[in-house]
Amino acid sequence: MPAVNSSNDTPQALPSSIDDTQARLAAHDYVADRRLATVVYLALKLERPLFLEGEPGTGKTEIARTLAAMLGRPLIRLQCYEGLDLAGAAYEWNYARQMLEIRLAGLGAETNGQSDGQGVGSAGRDALAARLFDERFLIKRALLEAIDPAREVPPVLLIDELDRADEPFEAFLLEVLSEWQITIPELGPVRAVRPPIVVLTSNRTREIHDAVKRRCLYHWVGFPDAAREAEILRRRVPGAGERLAGEVVAFVQRLRTLDLYKLPGVAETIEWARALRELDAIQLDPEIVQSTLGLLLKYQDDIARVNGDEVQRLLEHVRQQAAAV
Ligand SMILES: Nc1ncnc2c1ncn2[C@@H]1O[C@H](COP(=O)(O)OP(=O)(O)O)[C@@H](O)[C@H]1O
Ligand SMILES: [Mg+2]
Repeated sequence: MPAVNSSNDTPQALPSSIDDTQARLAAHDYVADRRLATVVYLALKLERPLFLEGEPGTGKTEIARTLAAMLGRPLIRLQCYEGLDLAGAAYEWNYARQMLEIRLAGLGAETNGQSDGQGVGSAGRDALAARLFDERFLIKRALLEAIDPAREVPPVLLIDELDRADEPFEAFLLEVLSEWQITIPELGPVRAVRPPIVVLTSNRTREIHDAVKRRCLYHWVGFPDAAREAEILRRRVPGAGERLAGEVVAFVQRLRTLDLYKLPGVAETIEWARALRELDAIQLDPEIVQSTLGLLLKYQDDIARVNGDEVQRLLEHVRQQAAAV
């Protein structure tokens, strides 16, 4: 996947209020609760990075995509991983092209009779060295792309799953987030004219350093309540009947109260509802739940714990819920 998804959309104005933020996210099928809409609104208004932490599959990455679409900005994504460094995140020099340039310069000097027998002469060497560290030989990665002063509109920069990167990377990031600047020793500082809209996410497999969090507006993204999850299904899985969708939500909500190794996120609810829709289910029954449980739970221990009696109990609860409405 390319680091930059260029968008041809014209840039849109920032939302004018919390209500407006919520409505415009919803227009792009992102169902945000009031607290999330508030922190998004403030991050945009105050030009501060947004730090979203929470369980996997709760809509953290999606919010960056939605913001890019809603504001008509390109989305620049930096997927973090163990061992991510400056070269992977910001820039690196294109050694292969630099080597080629050196070879070509050497050949040119020989044919022009300027050679001292070892390629280019010493004046030529200085000129060549200067030429080698030109922007033409620079490979820009996500962070440098995002602060490129040539950009007319600030992009949305998604720094995804920061908890996967090593701690030293955070120190480097800190500098970028506070100065909107990256210093390239051979070229000098590169600084954004206007700060990008930054969304950082973490699945909290480890704690992120306080210093990073302090520069951001922090929000914990929890599992949605039943009403919000039903609204997400309405938008993301159209065609699943009202009854099926209601039962799916009640089932998943109850499942999340169990002591499982890995609770299902919204992503799993959506996937499950889509699968049940494909199977033309109009309601849940023990047979269909048991044969599709792998879409909700991804650990054999969790599946073994739920399969059987527990499915019966969960379905009874779903029926009671339905009867109560
Ligand atoms: N509030 C929401 N509104 C609409 N869709 C959502 C919402 N939360 C999650 N989703 C859906 O769930 C899926 C997983 O979300 P994602 O952003 O990838 O999760 P995370 O980054 O938190 O692991 C996405 O396909 C997204 O469409
Ligand atoms: Mg994600």
